[in-house]
Amino acid sequence: MENKTQEEASTIRVSSLTCIDLANTNLHQSAVSLKQACLDCGFFYVKNHGISEELKDEAFEQSKKFFALPLEEKMKVLRNENNRGYSPVFDQILDPENQVDGDYKESFFIGIEDFKDDPHGDTPFYGPNLWPDSGWQATMENYHQEALRVCKTIAKLLALALDLEADYFDKPEILGNPIAVMRLVHYEGVSDPSKGIFGCGAHSDFGMMTLLGTDSVMGLQICKDKEAKPRKWEYVPSIKGAYIVNLGDLLERWSNGIFKSTLHRVLGNGQERYSIPFFVEPSHDCLVECLPTCQSENKPPKYPAIKCSTYLTQRYQQSHVDLSIYKQI
Ligand code: OGA
Ligand code: NI
Repeated sequence: MENKTQEEASTIRVSSLTCIDLANTNLHQSAVSLKQACLDCGFFYVKNHGISEELKDEAFEQSKKFFALPLEEKMKVLRNENNRGYSPVFDQILDPENQVDGDYKESFFIGIEDFKDDPHGDTPFYGPNLWPDSGWQATMENYHQEALRVCKTIAKLLALALDLEADYFDKPEILGNPIAVMRLVHYEGVSDPSKGIFGCGAHSDFGMMTLLGTDSVMGLQICKDKEAKPRKWEYVPSIKGAYIVNLGDLLERWSNGIFKSTLHRVLGNGQERYSIPFFVEPSHDCLVECLPTCQSENKPPKYPAIKCSTYLTQRYQQSHVDLSIYKQI
């Protein structure tokens, strides 16, 4: 567990990240700035994304209403094997080495609604959603669609930044049929790193990229150098009208470690905090293997190829409690 004095010395920094203007028609220029941000820390902002403030506010309002329901109501839509539905406080533990309980957050997973006939249950990230009775389905579906549209735009810039064709990630096995999970999150309580108490423990995201919508309550921190001792944490403030974007571990693998998926965590300060991370991954069957432009004779692939669903399933299982524990309650 980290030493308190080290923590105190490190918690006042505020990060200044690149902001990519998605309305800029000079794609080359955007790709150059994006590349620098991805080489540096894999965290940046996007603005002029086209998601209306009204839709974002509505999604946050509905999310607040849901989390305000009694636990008993929320447990009626407890998450299932398809990773859909309600995830209670402590359901996830992202940094077991440094956390005592689990993440002090509750959340709700919404995926792509398309129901694929899957008798073998080996596409755990596709399937019907669970919807609580609070009449929010239309808002959430609309937000999901819009967030995916923005991520596909960012993926074009990422492709250019990786010296690939702009539509490289648009293929059916990649973003033509993506796993895209929207997660409504509610944090409360006061974190104390010296006691192993965190809103969300230090981690890097699992997939390709995350489009993160937050309210204005500070809490998110990034650590640009995970090897540094002590680790230096910098707050990432929310910027009105902009989204935070971060790269995930699958993209780090895909790019042979060239693009970074950076360590981050959330500290609670006693205020309630809401966020909506939108996690994007390629299709279930996509084989994530070193991109052609990221390898050479002197730079062979560092990671073995892995099927997207195999990788994600492992990461979800490792970081969540077993669903069977809820049957005993
Ligand atoms: C996550 C995450 C940050 C936040 O859910 O992976 O890092 O601000 N969330 O909620
Ligand atoms: Ni994260």
